[in-house]
Amino acid sequence: MRVAIIGTGYVGLTTGACLAFVGHSVSCLDTDECKIKALLAGKIPIYEPKLEELLDEARHNLQFTTSYAEAIPGAEVVFIAVGTPPTPSGAPNLEFLSQAARGIGQHMNGDFTVVVNKSTVPIGSGNWVGSLIREACEQRQDGSAPEFAVASNPEFLREGTALHDSLYPDRIVIGADEPRALEVLYSLYRPILDQTFNPPTYLERPEDVGAVPLLSTDLASAELIKYAANAFLALKISFINEIGLLAERVGANISEVGRGIGLDSRIGPRFLSAGIGWGGSCFGKDTSALIATAGEYGLNLPIVEAARKINCRQRDRVVEKLLYELKILKGRMIGLLGLAFKPNTDDLREAPAIEIAQKLIDRGVRVKAHDPIALEKFRREHGTMGVQLSENVCEVAEGCDALVLVTEWNEYRDLDWEALAKKMRNPVILDGRHALDRDKLTRAGLRYVSIS
Ligand code: UDX
Repeated sequence: MRVAIIGTGYVGLTTGACLAFVGHSVSCLDTDECKIKALLAGKIPIYEPKLEELLDEARHNLQFTTSYAEAIPGAEVVFIAVGTPPTPSGAPNLEFLSQAARGIGQHMNGDFTVVVNKSTVPIGSGNWVGSLIREACEQRQDGSAPEFAVASNPEFLREGTALHDSLYPDRIVIGADEPRALEVLYSLYRPILDQTFNPPTYLERPEDVGAVPLLSTDLASAELIKYAANAFLALKISFINEIGLLAERVGANISEVGRGIGLDSRIGPRFLSAGIGWGGSCFGKDTSALIATAGEYGLNLPIVEAARKINCRQRDRVVEKLLYELKILKGRMIGLLGLAFKPNTDDLREAPAIEIAQKLIDRGVRVKAHDPIALEKFRREHGTMGVQLSENVCEVAEGCDALVLVTEWNEYRDLDWEALAKKMRNPVILDGRHALDRDKLTRAGLRYVSIS
Protein backbone atom coordinates (compact mmCIF):
# COMPACT_ATOMS: atom_id res chain seq x y z
CA MET A 1 0.00 0.00 0.00
CA ARG A 2 1.03 3.61 -0.45
CA VAL A 3 1.55 5.41 2.82
CA ALA A 4 2.55 8.95 3.76
CA ILE A 5 3.79 9.87 7.22
CA ILE A 6 3.88 13.47 8.36
CA GLY A 7 6.54 14.07 11.02
CA THR A 8 9.90 12.31 11.26
CA GLY A 9 10.33 12.30 15.03
CA TYR A 10 10.55 9.15 17.15
CA VAL A 11 7.03 8.03 16.28
CA GLY A 12 6.94 8.97 12.58
CA LEU A 13 10.34 7.63 11.67
CA THR A 14 9.88 4.37 13.57
CA THR A 15 6.42 3.81 12.07
CA GLY A 16 7.76 4.64 8.59
CA ALA A 17 10.71 2.28 8.92
CA CYS A 18 8.53 -0.60 10.15
CA LEU A 19 5.79 -0.19 7.54
CA ALA A 20 8.40 0.06 4.76
CA PHE A 21 10.15 -3.00 6.17
CA VAL A 22 6.96 -5.10 6.02
CA GLY A 23 6.48 -4.13 2.37
CA HIS A 24 4.58 -0.85 2.07
CA SER A 25 5.72 2.10 0.01
CA VAL A 26 6.26 4.92 2.50
CA SER A 27 6.85 8.60 1.97
CA CYS A 28 8.12 10.40 5.08
CA LEU A 29 7.38 14.11 5.14
CA ASP A 30 8.82 16.74 7.44
CA THR A 31 8.81 20.51 7.00
CA ASP A 32 12.23 20.66 8.70
CA GLU A 33 14.64 20.73 5.77
CA CYS A 34 17.67 19.84 7.90
CA LYS A 35 16.04 16.63 9.07
CA ILE A 36 15.05 15.57 5.54
CA LYS A 37 18.51 16.44 4.16
CA ALA A 38 20.09 14.31 6.88
CA LEU A 39 17.72 11.40 6.22
CA LEU A 40 18.38 11.56 2.48
CA ALA A 41 22.09 11.36 3.26
CA GLY A 42 21.45 8.25 5.38
CA LYS A 43 21.84 10.07 8.71
CA ILE A 44 19.29 9.71 11.48
CA PRO A 45 18.34 12.81 13.47
CA ILE A 46 17.58 10.79 16.65
CA TYR A 47 19.25 7.97 18.55
CA GLU A 48 17.15 4.82 18.53
CA PRO A 49 18.81 1.40 18.63
CA LYS A 50 18.69 -0.51 15.29
CA LEU A 51 16.75 2.23 13.50
CA GLU A 52 19.67 2.91 11.18
CA GLU A 53 19.84 -0.75 10.19
CA LEU A 54 16.08 -1.03 9.62
CA LEU A 55 15.91 2.18 7.56
CA ASP A 56 18.79 0.92 5.50
CA GLU A 57 17.17 -2.45 4.89
CA ALA A 58 13.84 -0.84 3.93
CA ARG A 59 15.38 2.00 1.91
CA HIS A 60 13.93 0.72 -1.41
CA ASN A 61 10.42 1.33 0.02
CA LEU A 62 11.15 4.73 1.55
CA GLN A 63 11.11 8.31 0.35
CA PHE A 64 11.91 11.46 2.28
CA THR A 65 10.53 14.85 1.33
CA THR A 66 9.57 18.29 2.62
CA SER A 67 6.77 18.62 0.07
CA TYR A 68 3.09 17.81 0.69
CA ALA A 69 2.58 17.86 -3.09
CA GLU A 70 5.04 14.97 -3.37
CA ALA A 71 4.02 12.87 -0.39
CA ILE A 72 0.24 13.10 -0.18
CA PRO A 73 -1.26 12.54 -3.67
CA GLY A 74 -1.92 8.84 -4.23
CA ALA A 75 -1.37 7.86 -0.58
CA GLU A 76 -4.07 5.47 0.65
CA VAL A 77 -3.12 6.06 4.26
CA VAL A 78 -1.70 9.29 5.69
CA PHE A 79 -0.33 9.17 9.24
CA ILE A 80 -0.06 12.35 11.26
CA ALA A 81 2.87 11.87 13.61
CA VAL A 82 3.78 15.46 14.43
CA GLY A 83 4.79 16.79 17.84
CA THR A 84 2.16 18.04 20.27
CA PRO A 85 4.40 19.76 22.84
CA PRO A 86 2.82 21.01 26.06
CA THR A 87 1.78 24.66 26.46
CA PRO A 88 2.09 26.47 29.81
CA SER A 89 -1.58 25.62 30.62
CA GLY A 90 -0.89 21.88 30.29
CA ALA A 91 -2.98 21.55 27.12
CA PRO A 92 -0.94 20.39 24.10
CA ASN A 93 0.04 22.75 21.29
CA LEU A 94 -1.90 21.60 18.22
CA GLU A 95 -0.36 23.98 15.70
CA PHE A 96 1.64 21.25 13.90
CA LEU A 97 -1.41 18.99 13.84
CA SER A 98 -3.56 21.65 12.21
CA GLN A 99 -0.85 22.46 9.64
CA ALA A 100 -0.67 18.77 8.75
CA ALA A 101 -4.46 18.49 8.40
CA ARG A 102 -4.56 21.49 6.05
CA GLY A 103 -1.67 20.11 3.99
CA ILE A 104 -3.51 16.82 3.60
CA GLY A 105 -6.75 18.54 2.58
CA GLN A 106 -4.94 20.58 -0.05
CA HIS A 107 -3.16 17.63 -1.66
CA MET A 108 -4.96 14.30 -1.23
CA ASN A 109 -6.44 12.91 -4.43
CA GLY A 110 -7.08 9.16 -4.08
CA ASP A 111 -10.49 7.44 -4.24
CA PHE A 112 -10.53 7.12 -0.47
CA THR A 113 -7.82 8.30 1.91
CA VAL A 114 -7.58 7.25 5.52
CA VAL A 115 -6.02 9.96 7.66
CA VAL A 116 -4.64 8.51 10.87
CA ASN A 117 -3.88 10.40 14.05
CA LYS A 118 -0.79 8.70 15.43
CA SER A 119 0.31 11.63 17.58
CA THR A 120 -1.15 11.67 21.06
CA VAL A 121 -3.93 14.17 20.59
CA PRO A 122 -6.69 15.42 22.89
CA ILE A 123 -9.97 13.59 22.86
CA GLY A 124 -12.08 15.00 20.06
CA SER A 125 -9.11 15.71 17.78
CA GLY A 126 -10.29 13.14 15.24
CA ASN A 127 -13.39 15.24 14.55
CA TRP A 128 -11.39 18.45 14.59
CA VAL A 129 -8.79 17.13 12.11
CA GLY A 130 -11.66 15.95 9.89
CA SER A 131 -13.18 19.43 9.86
CA LEU A 132 -9.82 21.08 9.04
CA ILE A 133 -9.27 18.69 6.13
CA ARG A 134 -12.80 19.32 4.82
CA GLU A 135 -12.23 23.08 5.06
CA ALA A 136 -8.96 22.82 3.11
CA CYS A 137 -10.67 20.65 0.48
CA GLU A 138 -13.40 23.25 0.01
CA GLN A 139 -10.79 25.90 -0.74
CA ARG A 140 -9.13 23.86 -3.49
CA GLN A 141 -8.97 25.53 -6.88
CA ASP A 142 -9.61 22.28 -8.79
CA GLY A 143 -13.09 21.94 -7.24
CA SER A 144 -12.51 18.26 -6.37
CA ALA A 145 -13.83 16.80 -3.11
CA PRO A 146 -11.82 13.64 -2.45
CA GLU A 147 -13.29 11.13 -0.02
CA PHE A 148 -11.53 10.50 3.26
CA ALA A 149 -12.05 9.27 6.81
CA VAL A 150 -10.16 10.03 9.99
CA ALA A 151 -8.98 7.24 12.29
CA SER A 152 -7.05 7.17 15.54
CA ASN A 153 -4.25 4.66 15.90
CA PRO A 154 -2.33 5.53 19.05
CA GLU A 155 1.28 4.48 19.41
CA PHE A 156 2.49 2.64 22.47
CA LEU A 157 6.17 2.53 21.59
CA ARG A 158 8.83 3.22 24.15
CA GLU A 159 11.93 5.09 23.11
CA GLY A 160 14.92 2.80 23.21
CA THR A 161 12.78 -0.20 22.24
CA ALA A 162 10.60 1.57 19.68
CA LEU A 163 11.23 -0.89 16.82
CA HIS A 164 10.58 -3.92 18.96
CA ASP A 165 7.35 -2.32 20.24
CA SER A 166 6.23 -1.52 16.68
CA LEU A 167 6.99 -4.90 15.11
CA TYR A 168 5.90 -7.01 18.09
CA PRO A 169 3.23 -4.88 19.80
CA ASP A 170 1.06 -6.06 22.71
CA ARG A 171 -1.94 -4.78 20.75
CA ILE A 172 -2.95 -2.49 17.92
CA VAL A 173 -5.76 -0.05 18.65
CA ILE A 174 -7.75 1.47 15.81
CA GLY A 175 -10.52 3.97 16.41
CA ALA A 176 -12.69 4.81 13.42
CA ASP A 177 -16.30 5.81 13.03
CA GLU A 178 -16.30 4.66 9.39
CA PRO A 179 -15.98 0.88 8.75
CA ARG A 180 -14.08 1.41 5.45
CA ALA A 181 -11.24 3.09 7.35
CA LEU A 182 -10.92 0.09 9.62
CA GLU A 183 -10.70 -2.26 6.61
CA VAL A 184 -7.89 -0.20 5.06
CA LEU A 185 -5.91 -0.14 8.31
CA TYR A 186 -6.51 -3.82 8.86
CA SER A 187 -4.88 -4.52 5.45
CA LEU A 188 -2.03 -2.15 6.27
CA TYR A 189 -1.23 -3.84 9.57
CA ARG A 190 -1.92 -7.39 8.43
CA PRO A 191 1.76 -8.46 8.26
CA ILE A 192 2.23 -7.27 11.85
CA LEU A 193 -1.12 -8.56 13.15
CA ASP A 194 -0.48 -12.01 11.65
CA GLN A 195 3.32 -11.80 12.19
CA THR A 196 3.91 -12.97 8.61
CA PHE A 197 7.02 -10.85 7.93
CA ASN A 198 10.54 -12.23 8.17
CA PRO A 199 12.04 -10.62 11.26
CA PRO A 200 15.25 -8.64 10.85
CA THR A 201 18.24 -10.62 12.14
CA TYR A 202 19.01 -7.88 14.67
CA LEU A 203 15.41 -7.71 15.99
CA GLU A 204 14.39 -11.28 16.48
CA ARG A 205 10.77 -12.14 17.12
CA PRO A 206 10.37 -13.11 20.80
CA GLU A 207 9.20 -16.70 21.19
CA ASP A 208 5.98 -15.81 22.98
CA VAL A 209 4.73 -13.46 20.23
CA GLY A 210 1.76 -14.91 18.33
CA ALA A 211 -1.00 -13.11 16.46
CA VAL A 212 -1.26 -9.53 17.73
CA PRO A 213 -4.67 -8.54 19.16
CA LEU A 214 -6.48 -5.80 17.24
CA LEU A 215 -8.86 -3.62 19.17
CA SER A 216 -11.19 -1.75 16.87
CA THR A 217 -13.34 0.91 18.45
CA ASP A 218 -14.73 4.38 17.96
CA LEU A 219 -12.55 7.48 17.61
CA ALA A 220 -13.08 8.91 21.10
CA SER A 221 -12.38 5.58 22.82
CA ALA A 222 -9.11 5.09 20.91
CA GLU A 223 -8.04 8.60 21.84
CA LEU A 224 -8.84 8.01 25.50
CA ILE A 225 -7.11 4.59 25.51
CA LYS A 226 -3.81 6.30 24.75
CA TYR A 227 -4.09 8.85 27.54
CA ALA A 228 -5.45 6.33 30.02
CA ALA A 229 -2.63 3.85 29.25
CA ASN A 230 0.06 6.43 29.85
CA ALA A 231 -1.64 7.80 32.96
CA PHE A 232 -1.94 4.27 34.37
CA LEU A 233 1.75 3.52 33.74
CA ALA A 234 2.70 6.86 35.30
CA LEU A 235 0.64 6.18 38.39
CA LYS A 236 2.03 2.66 38.69
CA ILE A 237 5.50 4.23 38.97
CA SER A 238 4.28 6.88 41.40
CA PHE A 239 2.53 4.24 43.48
CA ILE A 240 5.74 2.27 43.94
CA ASN A 241 7.58 5.50 44.73
CA GLU A 242 4.97 6.38 47.37
CA ILE A 243 5.30 2.93 48.92
CA GLY A 244 9.09 3.37 48.65
CA LEU A 245 8.99 6.29 51.06
CA LEU A 246 7.19 4.14 53.61
CA ALA A 247 9.51 1.20 52.90
CA GLU A 248 12.45 3.38 53.81
CA ARG A 249 10.87 4.34 57.15
CA VAL A 250 9.94 0.79 58.13
CA GLY A 251 13.23 -0.70 56.89
CA ALA A 252 11.73 -2.67 53.97
CA ASN A 253 13.47 -3.20 50.64
CA ILE A 254 11.39 -1.54 47.91
CA SER A 255 12.87 -3.64 45.09
CA GLU A 256 11.75 -6.78 46.91
CA VAL A 257 8.35 -5.23 47.60
CA GLY A 258 7.99 -4.36 43.89
CA ARG A 259 8.94 -7.90 42.88
CA GLY A 260 6.60 -9.38 45.44
CA ILE A 261 3.54 -7.45 44.36
CA GLY A 262 4.41 -7.70 40.65
CA LEU A 263 4.26 -11.49 40.75
CA ASP A 264 0.52 -11.19 41.27
CA SER A 265 -0.67 -11.51 37.68
CA ARG A 266 -3.42 -8.96 38.37
CA ILE A 267 -0.70 -6.38 39.08
CA GLY A 268 2.15 -7.46 36.77
CA PRO A 269 5.89 -6.91 37.24
CA ARG A 270 6.55 -3.99 34.89
CA PHE A 271 6.69 -0.29 35.76
CA LEU A 272 7.23 -1.00 39.43
CA SER A 273 10.85 0.14 39.60
CA ALA A 274 11.13 2.78 42.29
CA GLY A 275 13.56 5.68 42.00
CA ILE A 276 13.72 9.30 40.92
CA GLY A 277 10.55 8.97 38.89
CA TRP A 278 9.53 9.25 35.31
CA GLY A 279 10.76 11.68 32.67
CA GLY A 280 10.42 11.79 28.90
CA SER A 281 8.07 13.35 26.44
CA CYS A 282 4.92 11.38 27.27
CA PHE A 283 4.01 10.80 30.88
CA GLY A 284 4.30 14.43 32.00
CA LYS A 285 2.63 15.83 28.90
CA ASP A 286 -0.13 13.24 28.70
CA THR A 287 -1.10 13.29 32.36
CA SER A 288 -1.31 17.07 32.27
CA ALA A 289 -3.32 16.99 29.02
CA LEU A 290 -5.71 14.45 30.55
CA ILE A 291 -6.23 16.68 33.57
CA ALA A 292 -6.80 19.67 31.24
CA THR A 293 -9.38 17.70 29.20
CA ALA A 294 -11.19 16.58 32.35
CA GLY A 295 -11.20 20.24 33.46
CA GLU A 296 -13.03 21.20 30.27
CA TYR A 297 -15.81 18.88 31.41
CA GLY A 298 -15.78 20.24 34.97
CA LEU A 299 -14.04 17.13 36.34
CA ASN A 300 -11.01 16.61 38.59
CA LEU A 301 -8.71 13.60 38.26
CA PRO A 302 -7.28 13.43 41.81
CA ILE A 303 -5.45 10.12 41.27
CA VAL A 304 -3.64 11.38 38.18
CA GLU A 305 -2.87 14.65 39.96
CA ALA A 306 -1.39 12.75 42.90
CA ALA A 307 0.80 10.70 40.54
CA ARG A 308 2.25 13.94 39.18
CA LYS A 309 2.87 15.39 42.65
CA ILE A 310 4.68 12.27 43.79
CA ASN A 311 6.85 12.38 40.68
CA CYS A 312 7.93 15.96 41.51
CA ARG A 313 8.63 14.95 45.10
CA GLN A 314 11.04 12.21 43.94
CA ARG A 315 13.34 14.85 42.41
CA ASP A 316 13.36 16.80 45.67
CA ARG A 317 14.22 13.64 47.53
CA VAL A 318 17.55 13.49 45.65
CA VAL A 319 18.49 16.86 47.11
CA GLU A 320 17.19 15.88 50.57
CA LYS A 321 19.22 12.67 50.55
CA LEU A 322 22.39 14.47 49.50
CA LEU A 323 21.79 17.11 52.13
CA TYR A 324 21.40 14.42 54.78
CA GLU A 325 24.61 12.66 53.69
CA LEU A 326 26.79 15.73 53.13
CA LYS A 327 25.15 18.14 55.66
CA ILE A 328 26.24 21.16 53.62
CA LEU A 329 25.69 21.36 49.86
CA LYS A 330 27.10 24.81 49.11
CA GLY A 331 30.56 24.47 47.59
CA ARG A 332 30.25 20.70 47.10
CA MET A 333 30.96 18.91 43.83
CA ILE A 334 28.43 16.33 42.69
CA GLY A 335 28.63 14.10 39.61
CA LEU A 336 25.57 12.90 37.70
CA LEU A 337 25.76 9.59 35.88
CA GLY A 338 23.31 9.79 33.00
CA LEU A 339 21.51 12.72 31.38
CA ALA A 340 19.01 11.06 29.01
CA PHE A 341 15.56 10.52 30.56
CA LYS A 342 16.15 6.77 30.39
CA PRO A 343 18.76 4.38 28.94
CA ASN A 344 19.09 3.67 25.21
CA THR A 345 17.87 7.05 24.06
CA ASP A 346 19.40 10.50 23.61
CA ASP A 347 16.09 12.16 24.48
CA LEU A 348 16.39 14.84 27.14
CA ARG A 349 12.78 15.95 27.29
CA GLU A 350 11.76 16.22 30.96
CA ALA A 351 14.93 14.34 31.85
CA PRO A 352 15.23 14.11 35.65
CA ALA A 353 18.95 14.92 35.35
CA ILE A 354 18.19 18.43 34.12
CA GLU A 355 15.83 19.20 37.00
CA ILE A 356 18.22 17.68 39.53
CA ALA A 357 21.22 19.56 38.12
CA GLN A 358 19.29 22.83 38.34
CA LYS A 359 18.19 22.18 41.93
CA LEU A 360 21.78 21.44 42.93
CA ILE A 361 23.21 24.46 41.09
CA ASP A 362 20.62 26.65 42.82
CA ARG A 363 22.01 25.42 46.14
CA GLY A 364 25.56 26.37 45.20
CA VAL A 365 26.75 22.91 44.13
CA ARG A 366 29.24 22.45 41.28
CA VAL A 367 27.73 19.79 39.03
CA LYS A 368 29.53 17.45 36.64
CA ALA A 369 27.83 14.95 34.34
CA HIS A 370 28.43 12.01 32.06
CA ASP A 371 26.18 10.28 29.53
CA PRO A 372 27.22 7.67 26.98
CA ILE A 373 25.02 9.10 24.18
CA ALA A 374 23.28 12.35 25.12
CA LEU A 375 26.22 14.70 25.89
CA GLU A 376 26.26 16.34 22.48
CA LYS A 377 22.50 16.79 22.43
CA PHE A 378 22.63 18.27 25.94
CA ARG A 379 25.22 20.83 24.78
CA ARG A 380 23.09 21.71 21.76
CA GLU A 381 19.82 22.07 23.63
CA HIS A 382 20.90 23.46 27.00
CA GLY A 383 24.32 25.06 26.43
CA THR A 384 26.02 23.55 29.43
CA MET A 385 23.64 25.00 32.04
CA GLY A 386 26.76 25.48 34.12
CA VAL A 387 27.29 21.70 34.26
CA GLN A 388 30.79 20.38 33.56
CA LEU A 389 30.27 17.67 30.94
CA SER A 390 32.69 14.84 30.39
CA GLU A 391 32.93 11.73 28.23
CA ASN A 392 34.85 9.99 30.94
CA VAL A 393 33.24 8.70 34.14
CA CYS A 394 36.61 8.83 35.97
CA GLU A 395 36.91 12.50 35.16
CA VAL A 396 33.41 13.09 36.55
CA ALA A 397 34.22 11.22 39.78
CA GLU A 398 37.45 13.17 40.34
CA GLY A 399 37.08 15.32 43.46
CA CYS A 400 33.33 14.63 43.84
CA ASP A 401 31.54 14.61 47.18
CA ALA A 402 28.89 12.29 45.77
CA LEU A 403 27.89 10.58 42.55
CA VAL A 404 24.21 10.23 41.62
CA LEU A 405 23.11 7.48 39.26
CA VAL A 406 20.31 9.22 37.37
CA THR A 407 19.96 7.02 34.25
CA GLU A 408 20.51 3.30 34.57
CA TRP A 409 22.66 2.80 31.44
CA ASN A 410 23.93 -0.78 31.42
CA GLU A 411 27.55 0.27 31.34
CA TYR A 412 27.25 1.94 34.75
CA ARG A 413 26.57 -1.43 36.39
CA ASP A 414 30.10 -2.69 35.77
CA LEU A 415 32.26 0.36 36.31
CA ASP A 416 35.55 0.00 38.18
CA TRP A 417 33.94 1.32 41.36
CA GLU A 418 37.06 0.84 43.44
CA ALA A 419 39.02 3.15 41.16
CA LEU A 420 36.16 5.66 41.12
CA ALA A 421 35.90 5.65 44.92
CA LYS A 422 39.59 6.53 45.14
CA LYS A 423 39.13 9.52 42.84
CA MET A 424 36.27 10.94 44.91
CA ARG A 425 36.71 13.35 47.80
CA ASN A 426 33.78 11.70 49.57
CA PRO A 427 32.89 8.26 48.25
CA VAL A 428 29.08 8.52 48.39
CA ILE A 429 26.94 6.99 45.65
CA LEU A 430 23.23 7.79 45.48
CA ASP A 431 21.59 5.12 43.32
CA GLY A 432 18.52 6.86 41.91
CA ARG A 433 17.32 3.79 40.04
CA HIS A 434 17.98 0.79 42.30
CA ALA A 435 20.21 -0.41 39.50
CA LEU A 436 23.53 -0.97 41.27
CA ASP A 437 24.73 -3.80 43.48
CA ARG A 438 24.80 -2.44 47.03
CA ASP A 439 27.19 -5.13 48.36
CA LYS A 440 29.63 -4.77 45.48
CA LEU A 441 29.77 -1.00 45.82
CA THR A 442 30.14 -1.19 49.58
CA ARG A 443 33.04 -3.62 49.12
CA ALA A 444 34.57 -1.14 46.65
CA GLY A 445 34.67 1.44 49.44
CA LEU A 446 31.59 3.50 48.63
CA ARG A 447 28.82 4.54 50.93
CA TYR A 448 25.74 3.27 49.03
CA VAL A 449 22.52 5.22 49.42
CA SER A 450 19.31 4.68 47.46
CA ILE A 451 16.06 6.53 46.88
CA SER A 452 13.18 4.43 48.08
C1 UDX B 1 6.11 5.94 27.19
C2 UDX B 1 5.13 4.76 27.15
O1 UDX B 1 5.69 3.63 27.81
C3 UDX B 1 4.77 4.43 25.72
O2 UDX B 1 3.82 3.38 25.67
C4 UDX B 1 4.19 5.71 25.14
O3 UDX B 1 3.56 5.55 23.97
C5 UDX B 1 5.25 6.78 25.12
O4 UDX B 1 5.60 7.03 26.48
P1 UDX B 1 8.72 6.30 26.96
O5 UDX B 1 8.43 7.68 27.49
O6 UDX B 1 9.55 6.17 25.73
O7 UDX B 1 7.35 5.53 26.66
O8 UDX B 1 9.47 5.50 28.12
P2 UDX B 1 9.08 4.45 29.26
O9 UDX B 1 9.89 3.23 29.07
O10 UDX B 1 7.63 4.29 29.36
O11 UDX B 1 9.65 5.20 30.56
C6 UDX B 1 9.13 6.47 30.98
C7 UDX B 1 9.81 6.94 32.23
O12 UDX B 1 9.41 6.16 33.35
C8 UDX B 1 11.33 6.87 32.19
O13 UDX B 1 11.88 8.05 32.73
C9 UDX B 1 11.68 5.69 33.07
O14 UDX B 1 12.93 5.81 33.66
C10 UDX B 1 10.55 5.77 34.10
N1 UDX B 1 10.25 4.47 34.74
C11 UDX B 1 9.80 3.42 33.99
C12 UDX B 1 10.39 4.33 36.12
O15 UDX B 1 10.77 5.27 36.82
N2 UDX B 1 10.07 3.13 36.69
C13 UDX B 1 9.62 2.07 35.97
O16 UDX B 1 9.34 1.01 36.57
C14 UDX B 1 9.48 2.21 34.57
